[in-house]
Amino acid sequence: MSEGTLAPNDPALWSPGAPELEFWRAPEPESRPDLWPAGLRRDTDGQLCWHGESLMALLTRARGKTPVFMLDLDDFRARARAYQQAFVEVFGAEQAQVHYAGKAFLSLELARVAVAEGLGLDTASAGELSLALASGCNPQLIGLHGNGKSEDVLHQALTAGIGRIIVDSLDEIVRLQRVLDALPQVATVPVMIRLTTGVHAGGHEFIATAHEDQKFGLSLEPGTSAGLSPEFADWTGLARDAGVADEDSPAMLAVKMILGDERLELVGLHSHIGSQITGFAGFAAAARKALEFRARVSRETGYMVPELDLGGGYGVAYTGATDPGLTPHEIATELYRTVHDVCAELQQEIPFVSIEPGRSLVAPSTLTLYRVVNIKDQPVGTRTDGSVVYRRYVAVDGGMSDNIRPALYEAEYTAALANRVSDEDLVACRVVGAHCESGDIVVSNVALPADLAEGDWLAVPMTGAYGWSMSSNYNWFTRPGVLGLGTQSGTIVTKWLIEGENIDSMLAHFDPAFREFLASHPSDTTDSVTKTSQMEAKHE
Ligand code: LLP
Repeated sequence: MSEGTLAPNDPALWSPGAPELEFWRAPEPESRPDLWPAGLRRDTDGQLCWHGESLMALLTRARGKTPVFMLDLDDFRARARAYQQAFVEVFGAEQAQVHYAGKAFLSLELARVAVAEGLGLDTASAGELSLALASGCNPQLIGLHGNGKSEDVLHQALTAGIGRIIVDSLDEIVRLQRVLDALPQVATVPVMIRLTTGVHAGGHEFIATAHEDQKFGLSLEPGTSAGLSPEFADWTGLARDAGVADEDSPAMLAVKMILGDERLELVGLHSHIGSQITGFAGFAAAARKALEFRARVSRETGYMVPELDLGGGYGVAYTGATDPGLTPHEIATELYRTVHDVCAELQQEIPFVSIEPGRSLVAPSTLTLYRVVNIKDQPVGTRTDGSVVYRRYVAVDGGMSDNIRPALYEAEYTAALANRVSDEDLVACRVVGAHCESGDIVVSNVALPADLAEGDWLAVPMTGAYGWSMSSNYNWFTRPGVLGLGTQSGTIVTKWLIEGENIDSMLAHFDPAFREFLASHPSDTTDSVTKTSQMEAKHE
C-alpha cells in the first residue's frame, strides 16, 4: 500500500456507526409534514403528488426539466400569514411587524404573496431591492441590509424612500451623509443600527453573525471605537461635536452621529445573531443586550429608540433526525415575554418589535426534483469476516450548482423516491451531484431502495431557502427553474417563478464570443436538452 492511502478497513474510512453504514429513510409527508410542502402526499400508485397530481406530471405539463425547484405558493402564503397573525395577536395590532428576508429566496411573484399577507420585505442588495420595489410593497415596509452598501445602492434606497436602512458601520453613516448631500430633495432618512450583541448562536460558523470577530454590525463593547480605521479621526471630529466620549462603543458612536444629523432619523436598533438557530436562549440574550443598550442611549442622549428588530434565524428541521423548528406562535410568545420582562426590569417603555425570518418561511415550501443519472457502489471498508461494505453513490442531474449548502456548511438533507415505491431492501446511499468536485454532495446519508435505477426521480425536501438564491453555473451547468404550485378555485395552477436556463441562452448571456458564434451558426447549436427531448420523443 503506497504511503498516504488508507487500508480498506481503516476506521477513517467508516461512517459513524461502523461496521455498518448509518442511514435514515426520508420521512413520508404524512409522518413529518413540517419537512414537505403542505400540498404533498403519496398517492396509491406510490407517486409523490401535489394535491393529487404527480410531481412528474406537473413538471411535464409546465414543459420543465430536472433539476427543478417546486415551490408550494399556498404553503408559503400560509406560513407568511401564520407569522403575521401570531405577531399581531401576541403583540397587538400596530405593535409588531414581520418582514420576509428575501435573501432566502426572492422572485417577484413570491414577493407579491408576502406583501399581500402584510409582510414587509428585507433586502440585502440592489437586485433584491429592485424586486421588492417592483412587488408593490409599501416602501415604508422595505429595509436595506448589508455590510458593504455602495453609494449606488444607498442612492437607490434614498430615492425610493424605503422605510429603513440598517447601517452596519460608521463608514456607512458617512457615506449615507455624502449621498444625502447630493439629494437635497430627500428631507429625512429612517435608519436603524445593526448591533453586535456578542451572542454566539447559529448552526455553522459561517452563519453566526453577532460574535465580535466577524464582519457584521457595530460593537456594543465600550472603549472599542478608538483607532477603527484611517478615517476615524475625521469621524470623531464630526461626532465629538455631538458629545462623544472616549469610552463610547462603536454602536454608541453611531447613535451620536445619527442624532447629530437632522437628516437622519434613528428609527430602530437591530440585532440578527445568525441563522438556523433551534433554541430560543440566543434570541433572548440578544434582545436583552439590545434593550440594555436602548436604555443607555436614552440615559445618555434623552432619545428613546422606538423600534427593536430582532432579525431572523429561526431554524428548521432538514431531516427526520431533527425535531421541527419553533412555530411562529411560539416565537412571538417567547419574544413578547422576553421584551416585556426586560423592559419592566429596566423601567423602559415597550418598543415596536419587528423580525425578519427567511428560512423558516420558505424552506419547507419547496422541494428539488432530480433524475438519477448514475449508480455506483464504492467499497468503504471491510467487516471482521472479510466481507466488504459498500456505499452506494447515486448521482443526480444537479448538485452543488443548485444546492451549495452541503458543501459549504455540511448541511444535511434527505431524499425520497418520487415516482414509485419499492418493496426492495434499503441500501445506504449518498446522493451526489454531477459536478467535478468530491464535496458535491446532495444528501450524505439516506436509505433508498436497492432497485433504485437510472431514470428514477428523487425529491429532496426543504430546499426553498438558500438553494436557488445561492445557485451557480459551476461547470457551466444551467441553473434550474423554480416552478410555483398554486391552487385557484380547486384547480392546480403552475407558473414559473424563475425560468430555468438552457445551455445556449446561458452561454450567450455570459460569453459575448459564444453569442456571436450562435448568431453565425444558428443550426449547429440546438440546446442539448432540446436534443434529449427530441431523442425521447423518437423513442416513444
Ligand atoms: N436578517 C438578516 C440581517 C440576515 O442577515 C438574515 C440572514 C436574515 C434576516 C434571515 O435569516 P433566516 O431566517 O433565513 O435564517 N446562506 C446561509 C444562511 C445565511 C443567512 C444570511 N442572513 C444558509 O444557507 O444557511
